[in-house]
Amino acid sequence: MCGIVGYVGNSSRKAAEHSALDVVVEGLRRLEYRGYDSAGVAVVADGTISSRKKSGKLSNLVSELEANPVPESLTGIGHTRWATHGGPTDRNAHPHLSDGGRLALIHNGIIENFAELKQELLAKGVTFESETDTEVAAALLGDIFRSANGDGGDLTAAMRLACQRLEGAFTLLAVHADQPDVVVAARRNSPLVVGLGDGENFLGSDVSGFIDYTRRAVELGQDQIVTITADSVEITDFFGAPAEGKEYHVDWDPASAEKGGFNSFMEKEIHDQPDAVGQTLLGRSDLNGKLTLDELRIDPELLKQVNKIIVLACGTAAYAGLVAKYAIENWCRIPTEVELAHEFRYRDPIVDANTLVVSISQSGETMDTLMAVRYAREQGAKTISICNTNGSTIPRESDAVLYTHAGPEIAVASTKAFLAQITAAYLLGLYLAQLRGNIFSGQIKDVLADLGKIPAKIQQILDGSGPLRELARSMKDEKSVLFLGRHVGYPVALEGALKLKEIAYIHAEGFAAGELKHGPIALIDDGQPVFVVVPSPRGRDSLHSKVVSNIQEVRARGARTLVIAEEGDESVKDYAEHVFYVPETPTLLMPLLTTVPLQIFAAELAGAKGYDVDQPRNLAKSVTVE
Ligand code: F6R
Repeated sequence: MCGIVGYVGNSSRKAAEHSALDVVVEGLRRLEYRGYDSAGVAVVADGTISSRKKSGKLSNLVSELEANPVPESLTGIGHTRWATHGGPTDRNAHPHLSDGGRLALIHNGIIENFAELKQELLAKGVTFESETDTEVAAALLGDIFRSANGDGGDLTAAMRLACQRLEGAFTLLAVHADQPDVVVAARRNSPLVVGLGDGENFLGSDVSGFIDYTRRAVELGQDQIVTITADSVEITDFFGAPAEGKEYHVDWDPASAEKGGFNSFMEKEIHDQPDAVGQTLLGRSDLNGKLTLDELRIDPELLKQVNKIIVLACGTAAYAGLVAKYAIENWCRIPTEVELAHEFRYRDPIVDANTLVVSISQSGETMDTLMAVRYAREQGAKTISICNTNGSTIPRESDAVLYTHAGPEIAVASTKAFLAQITAAYLLGLYLAQLRGNIFSGQIKDVLADLGKIPAKIQQILDGSGPLRELARSMKDEKSVLFLGRHVGYPVALEGALKLKEIAYIHAEGFAAGELKHGPIALIDDGQPVFVVVPSPRGRDSLHSKVVSNIQEVRARGARTLVIAEEGDESVKDYAEHVFYVPETPTLLMPLLTTVPLQIFAAELAGAKGYDVDQPRNLAKSVTVE
């Protein structure tokens, strides 16, 4: 939540032909998915701070900068906001200024003790213009800078003292007119990465903030302060003790974060899915079908002792966890619970050294998930993170990580990360089964072979999506759509409903099909559209015929039945207004296919309504507040 960029360049170096404003605005463009309620920049030039900020999307700020330019500068910071304290107005936009307009500060997170600090500062005669907690942090920093250092001093020292007073979660970036060649930043429970350039250095909420300029990144630890100039990066803790950051190479290609000819990032990312699954599988098994998850640096003996798995995640990632539960229990015979991370630690869960907690997070920064993982570790659980973002906090704070290789996901509504998460969770389940000898190696080899065929099958669905898109466009004025599924089709129904809610703002609900007659069937009325995800007729336990009966039940009450079924399943035709077929695949792997038509449906319908599918209202990509 909230995107943050900082830059310092050096005029004596070739690299510094970049202007701070260009670097910062470009970084904000890439980070806008993190929040788009307002945007702002501040640059230091000619001994003063120049700041511009505008409510609404980044394009509003760009127009403001054209109408009202800032001076050329080599030092700047920028912010794109997801509002927490105070509505999305110009006044509440960041940066916030203090020390008579000589200091500018931007912030991601929530300062929990802001009210108390505000009272203290008001008593000293400080005045406030906004309703934000950020302005309080800016005022505190300005007050400390002035009082601790007299007539202009050390911004880093002032930041340390300020951070010692702040409670909550924050990434702060500050510039001061007295120190024109410096950006100082601090982080607690909120993301921040340093980018190392040649004669220039960068700060970003994540690497996309500077990916156009450098691939060298440095992870910061918890409660650290970093001071960047064009030629130096100094890291300390909040008390000034020197600290080391961990440098890593960013292997994301900047082009993969562009739309590549599609109308929206979401549409592009839906089309990236064959690759996202393929890349996540790549290099993780040998020719004999043996899984080699070398990166999972956790003692195999400890994994053999695990007697319970808890999957923790939020939103779409939690639905990936629900899919994983079916597969892990089937392959490993280990009881597996899936819990929304924000519920977990507030209910005194039973966790011990034999519990394996698997967190799933695209961003690796979701605060609810991070806090749940921390809690589980404190209770002695082993923690494995399934994550898409290298160097992010959740993997860093877990015992081990299994990265998904979906590439950057920019659209706020998750698509390719979901399929990559499911793929990684399957690999983890198979690995545990292999380790514990639960299933024969031949069986693992077969599942891996089936997984290997998934990318081509997804492509087949994408290539044949014309009629589905036509249906979606024709349904743009619907007020409510229901989704039914059973077994692994149940989380798919939940995900289909979530996609439609979040980007098309249509009431949508997913149900376990078996639950229908326990209540939800009362919702069915003439013309009510109902998507039904039908399991394979080749599957077990007559599940298929049960779901076909569910289709008949809703149809008999007037529903329009829109069915996702396996190729060759003729039995659904008589009861479906529309059938969308997906290629044959083993039941447990089906969600990698059946989800895709529902993503396409939501994106097409939202597009037909004229909505911005990449940046749906009220949402942000990375939810870094609890
Ligand atoms: C929905 C969506 C969210 C995220 C959730 C967790 O399309 O994207 O529900 O899945 O906020 O985010 P991560 O995976 O970054 O922890």
